[in-house]
Amino acid sequence: MPEPAWNRTEGFYRGEAPSLFWELTVCQSLADPAGPYAAALEERLPYGALVARYLRQVLGPEPPGHVVEVGGGYGTLMAALQEAWPPERITMVDLSPRFLAEQRRRLGNAPRLVESDALAFFRGLREPVDLVIANEIVGDLPTVTGLRGDDVRVASRGGTADPITRRVAERVARYGIDLSNAPEVFVFNLGAVELLEALAGKARAVFLTEHSSDVRLPERYRFLPLDGGDGYPRRVPLKGHDEYTIRFDHLEAVARALGFRVHRFHLAEVVGLRADEGIRFMARTGVTLSETAEAVCELCHHIAEYQGLVLTEEERCEAHNPESRS
Ligand SMILES: C[S@@+](CC[C@H](N)C(=O)[O-])C[C@H]1O[C@@H](n2cnc3c(N)ncnc32)[C@H](O)[C@@H]1O
Repeated sequence: MPEPAWNRTEGFYRGEAPSLFWELTVCQSLADPAGPYAAALEERLPYGALVARYLRQVLGPEPPGHVVEVGGGYGTLMAALQEAWPPERITMVDLSPRFLAEQRRRLGNAPRLVESDALAFFRGLREPVDLVIANEIVGDLPTVTGLRGDDVRVASRGGTADPITRRVAERVARYGIDLSNAPEVFVFNLGAVELLEALAGKARAVFLTEHSSDVRLPERYRFLPLDGGDGYPRRVPLKGHDEYTIRFDHLEAVARALGFRVHRFHLAEVVGLRADEGIRFMARTGVTLSETAEAVCELCHHIAEYQGLVLTEEERCEAHNPESRS
């Protein structure tokens, strides 16, 4: 039987040459609106502009005051977002000196760049910020593997357990997290939960996306191919480090308990993925007749399991988007 243990990625990102080329994030795939992946979109726009368009719909048209992006990679999202929906102030937080240098090169001198772990940064923040962007980073935060369901349930009712299990069990009890369908041994996204805790009261709105373990496909995108699984986080082996997919049901429960209004989405909705016959056929059969079609097919497979949350303080979301009440 495995023992509870941490999966951490800091060493990789703090190291000399972390790269995103081996994991090609959705943001990087859609960085170039003239590129082959963007042929999968209804409207060819760079990823950051698509995020800005979506956030305007959910939060209202007024550009944000102070935006903090954590884990901004090559600065690609922010470069397009600041053109489409210019914030008053931008802060980029990253623990990788290499990626901060890339962000400086891409974004120029105006944004403030902070070399810090995301959790440490928000725990130390004094003034709340208007918008936090966390695009494909929460899967990099510390994750607990090898948890035994019975031990967590006993510890969440006050029983004894090892320190890691106790730390998870404490969150399970505090946020009423449902483990009734958990496999005998499971993985818990504790770092992602701790990030939400650090953001409570510090962020008026949060935009968060990640590879998920419990995908909810909107009706329009039911044709997207899913890998299946038991709904619990699974290991994604990558160059020099492992990530784990995110159980969004758990993040939703935590965010609501922390007082956020929660708007959950599928990333295909944000980017405006095509849903016509051609793309349905390619996604279903994998049959492609050109290099562009191959890229489109690859994007469909990639994006299929990506979900996200927009978290807001009550008044802001109610004022602009009554439909998102839940
Ligand atoms: C998978 S990349 C995502 C990059 C970009 N957001 C995108 O979607 O292309 C993860 C990014 O988060 C940063 N990162 C990883 N762990 C972090 C942490 N604990 N605190 C701050 N930044 C972190 C990495 O250095 C990198 O810039």
